Amino acid sequence: MQKNKEFIMDTKKHNRNIIEQFSKQAEGYTSITSHSDALEKLIKMSSAAGEDTVLDIACGSGIVSCAFAKYTSHVTGVDMTPEMLNEARKLQAKRNLQNITWEIGDVTSLPYADDHFSIVISRFGFHHFLDPFQVLNEMKRVCKPNGVVMVVDVSLPESKIEKYNKMERNRDSSHVAALSLTTLSTLFKKVGIDKLEKDNYFMQIELNEQLQASFPEDKTALKNMILQDIGVNDLGINATALNGHVYLYYPIYIFSGKKP
Ligand SMILES: C[S@@+](CC[C@H](N)C(=O)[O-])C[C@H]1O[C@@H](n2cnc3c(N)ncnc32)[C@H](O)[C@@H]1O
Repeated sequence: MQKNKEFIMDTKKHNRNIIEQFSKQAEGYTSITSHSDALEKLIKMSSAAGEDTVLDIACGSGIVSCAFAKYTSHVTGVDMTPEMLNEARKLQAKRNLQNITWEIGDVTSLPYADDHFSIVISRFGFHHFLDPFQVLNEMKRVCKPNGVVMVVDVSLPESKIEKYNKMERNRDSSHVAALSLTTLSTLFKKVGIDKLEKDNYFMQIELNEQLQASFPEDKTALKNMILQDIGVNDLGINATALNGHVYLYYPIYIFSGKKP
């Protein structure tokens, strides 16, 4: 598809922002406990095993890639932030995994042949993409027929998305937009994957742990915005005070379908 000049400029600026944000977030990213939640669920839903070859889209510090590498023949992790890939290499070495290749690149245009991988997954990437349809289309293109295309991300009711986006853009300026369940379903339909298996879980994270790993322009304003939402839940993350701590519960949805 032909893209106009303005979109290309926006993309360049956005990509610079992604790299800037995740260069800062890289060091602390893997150690956030909740970033390793529900990995077994993803393995199970994708039926990953034996000869499977996996592509992890916007793989970041490699948490998902390393989980899949334990069960499959080979994993390729692709991301545009070098510092995140450095963390991924460290995790791979720690887990003593040989069957992973890390590649630097923009996932809106994948340098792989059609029908190449048997599982193509993206976790926590879609809310950063300017053109999520283009990425999903690429994921489907490089997936083998009957292979699995899986997207895992925060998803909120339409009524909460505007306030959530405002909060999340303050926390991480490279956030584009959370997708509603309807939007996710429509994207899959548009790329030609109709039959979907869906599941969800809540990613619990303690507010101070989240703030420590974030680089907002105004940490106090961000903290206040979340504290004011306790018992209100306009933000959709059900901020809850418990024993002197505040916990956030991000609703994470898993959409998985087979390429026809
Ligand atoms: C929130 S992290 C998720 C990392 C990993 N998928 C996970 O689940 O832990 C988002 C990642 O997306 C990457 N990213 C965002 N847009 C990208 C793009 N267009 N191409 C490649 N990587 C991208 C960032 O560099 C970052 O590492």
